[in-house]
Amino acid sequence: MNNHKIGVLASGRGSNLQSVLDNIENKKMPVEVAIVISDKADAFALERAKKAGIAQVVILRKECSDKTDFENKIDAALREASVELVVLAGFMRILSSDFVAKWKHKIINIHPALLPSFTGLDAQGQALEYGVKVAGCTVHFVDEGMDTGPIILQKVVPVLDGDTHDMLADRILVQEHIALPEAIGLWAEDKIEVCGRKVYIKK
Ligand code: GAR
Repeated sequence: MNNHKIGVLASGRGSNLQSVLDNIENKKMPVEVAIVISDKADAFALERAKKAGIAQVVILRKECSDKTDFENKIDAALREASVELVVLAGFMRILSSDFVAKWKHKIINIHPALLPSFTGLDAQGQALEYGVKVAGCTVHFVDEGMDTGPIILQKVVPVLDGDTHDMLADRILVQEHIALPEAIGLWAEDKIEVCGRKVYIKK
């Protein structure tokens, strides 16, 4: 059987991309990262893709006439690579409702918080500031809102007295590196069913 093709969008260091690549290799998931797309020319995620022999594309917002043009280029690159699932792994841009509609239930995102708490930027800092006792990460389908789509899975970590931002972010990141490949594996095995806001994992 052919591997399922996924496309990864990343803006930064790409440690979540790396966890996906490592898990595909180690767990023999029937998944292939067909393309890595970044909106930042210096994203380390591109280096990781290059090392793994994966096609990389840089699409800079400032070189596009508008957001529609930017997203059309992303869409074209994903379709050209025959991508079936789009994975946002530290992609720090909000996709328009038009783009999301084109890929309904075919875009997933990893967010470093237990949604619906702490959406948007610096979720770990928001959690520390708020004083919560548990934090974590969420993998969810992307809808037209910001970090609001149906939740596939979540992982929880404690927030400890004396935690710095980096300590908490690192603890959450360990779980992100488990959660994102796990969700992709469930998708590849066709075990994910979306029913309105709820996601059921088939046994
Ligand atoms: C991760 O912590 C990811 O959850 C977060 O950016 C980081 C990317 O790290 N994403 C968001 O905050 C999206 N709202 P990485 O580049 O090493 O994967």
